[in-house]
Amino acid sequence: MSVIKINALTVRAEMREEVERRFAGRAGLVESAEGFEGFQFLRPVEGIDRYLVVTQWRSEEDFQRWTESQAFKHGHAQAAKEANAHGHGHGHGGPAAASAELWSFEVIQSAEPKA
Ligand code: HEM
Repeated sequence: MSVIKINALTVRAEMREEVERRFAGRAGLVESAEGFEGFQFLRPVEGIDRYLVVTQWRSEEDFQRWTESQAFKHGHAQAAKEANAHGHGHGHGGPAAASAELWSFEVIQSAEPKA
């Protein structure tokens, strides 16, 4: 059974552009992770200040393995650099996301359009 892992990023209005820029320039490594089944980066359009990174995995173990991998570290290099950049003249005044929360779900039903 597939699992859905959602990273919910709270982003202040003035940081939205920066977060979108980082994702536009993302590493593109997750595509090669074992058990990866897809992801979507969702921009909030009404009343919600959280961007959602919705990822789908073959199993919980595949997701855990990815979060412990070098690919995950590289895939978050910009976010990490930004967080460590205070006082060194880099970055734009703090991490792009004010906070992040991980939500986990199991897929218990899904459907595709009829051909
Ligand atoms: C403190 C936690 C996290 C923060 C602040 C964060 C933020 C970010 C940012 C800003 C990027 C753009 C690339 C970069 O800046 O280097 C990114 C990439 C990404 N994040 Fe996160 N993230 C976090 C944890 C997670 C978790 C737990 C997941 C899984 C649901 C996830 C899924 C992804 C994916 C799939 C990418 C694209 C990586 C690639 O292209 O290989 N993130 N994240």
